[in-house]
Amino acid sequence: MATFMQWVHVMAAVVVVGGLGFLILILIPSLEVLNTEQRETLSRAMAGRFRWTSWSAITLLLLSGVYNTRYYFREVPWGRAWEFLALKIGLSFILFAIVLGLSIPFRLYEPLGTRRRQWLLAAFVLGVIVVLISAYLRRG
Ligand code: HEM
Repeated sequence: MATFMQWVHVMAAVVVVGGLGFLILILIPSLEVLNTEQRETLSRAMAGRFRWTSWSAITLLLLSGVYNTRYYFREVPWGRAWEFLALKIGLSFILFAIVLGLSIPFRLYEPLGTRRRQWLLAAFVLGVIVVLISAYLRRG
């Protein structure tokens, strides 16, 4: 069961952080080749998939994360590891809030501003930091 939950957790993390990385590094810079109307059409086509994929992955991260916490931290006394885990969970929740906020409604390209893209970038950076803390927890 522990291996299964670890697999679920890592797969969901790959989908969330990898998906954000794909949007930031590949898709958004490539939108320049489309005109405004085409961007709107693409954005509308992606909205439902973005919502369901991100919400499902976040649900799986939460469920497997709670399981992992009970499994790996049950006998760990309060200290540095717990502090880093608390930091990781706090940053994850900010990331989840940004992604949920962006998914209703989902618009990748706004002619008037780049605020949505900046939120996506912030979520990606948070994801990278969360993975770094997770690697530290695993080693420590
Ligand atoms: C964006 C959100 C998250 C990402 C990207 C993420 C990513 C990861 C990764 C990559 C690992 C290492 C797995 C391994 O080495 O086998 C891990 C482990 C872990 N995660 Fe998460 N996670 C996230 C959210 C959460 C949440 C919300 C919780 C708790 C509710 C949680 C609890 C844990 C625990 C307890 C471990 C095991 C740490 C250890 O090895 O001592 N994670 N996570």
